[in-house]
Amino acid sequence: MDQKRVAGEKSTEYIKNGMILGLGTGSTAYYMIKKVGELIKNGMEIKAVATSKSTESLARELKIPLLSIDEVDRIDLAIDGVDEIDNEFNAIKGGGGALFREKIVASLANEVIWIMDESKLVDGIGKFPLPVEILPYGYKHVIKELQDYSLNPKIRMKEEEIFVTDNGNYIVDLHIGTPMNINDVYNKVNRITGVIETGLFINMCNRIIIGTSSGTKIINNSNSKNVKMEQFR
Ligand code: A5P
Repeated sequence: MDQKRVAGEKSTEYIKNGMILGLGTGSTAYYMIKKVGELIKNGMEIKAVATSKSTESLARELKIPLLSIDEVDRIDLAIDGVDEIDNEFNAIKGGGGALFREKIVASLANEVIWIMDESKLVDGIGKFPLPVEILPYGYKHVIKELQDYSLNPKIRMKEEEIFVTDNGNYIVDLHIGTPMNINDVYNKVNRITGVIETGLFINMCNRIIIGTSSGTKIINNSNSKNVKMEQFR
């Protein structure tokens, strides 16, 4: 079976009745969301916060009750995909352009699970271009600063037009390569006026579920920045 599907479906075993879920974005999250739809059909009571407009519309189709980010204090469990992740749980996300909402949802979550196929686990992140969400106003100056740091920025395009995020902003993809000095990049990029958020998710997950040819491999992260609450343990 498709590795993304196996990982996505497996992650739903961690969902418990009454939870508020964070629903990720992308082709792996798709399988998880479909399964959440089935759980609801079978009587489970779950509410969810979506990390993108596309996830929101899939959730609506599947009759998953949705809450806006400002209607929740905390999220019990966020499940999302990644683009690249290393052995220390440092990840690049935002290949689909949803990094800002994904990060705010993950940071509100008591538990974060990332789901992926085997190709996402790497020795060092940086080969996948690092997405950075920036404001349209003054974007050329932001790109210039990123260039001055030799971070090889490229504005993301959609056909002939500049790609626009769900938040009305632009994405710059940084073609850094490996090895990447994560802290250095994080500190430099976040200080630039006009940068909203980066797709660097440093040690933000509690568990990863990797789809493999023979099933799933689950790796727990006991040192995650995310602190679990007792309620659903
Ligand atoms: C969306 O912006 C991304 O962060 C996705 O979560 C990530 O790109 C993973 O996508 P796939 O599961 O489609 O590979």
